[in-house]
Amino acid sequence: MKTLFVCGSRYGSTRVIGEWIAERLGFDSLITDVGDAPDPGEFDLVMLGSGISNISVLIRWTISP
Ligand SMILES: Cc1cc2nc3c(=O)[nH]c(=O)nc-3n(C[C@H](O)[C@H](O)[C@H](O)COP(=O)(O)O)c2cc1C
Repeated sequence: MKTLFVCGSRYGSTRVIGEWIAERLGFDSLITDVGDAPDPGEFDLVMLGSGISNISVLIRWTISP
């Protein structure tokens, strides 16, 4: 299963956790920062992860039709 992990990470912990999850799932995975994320439509599974800073996630997203 082709899997995309999109990380909003300031200090790197979220990305490390994404790497652990990808390793354990054993899927064909790409782990990327949110600013570099490719088109999610190319993937079977998309996971979003973020650190929290001052009660806000470090990731912003929009949904387009
Ligand atoms: C300045 C600062 C503010 C934070 N604010 C919150 C918060 O409001 N709520 C929370 O649960 N964690 C908060 N945290 C903890 C971070 O979410 C946590 O360290 C997280 O692992 C950081 O993720 P990152 O390493 O991927 O950036 C804060 C950490 C820092 C340094």
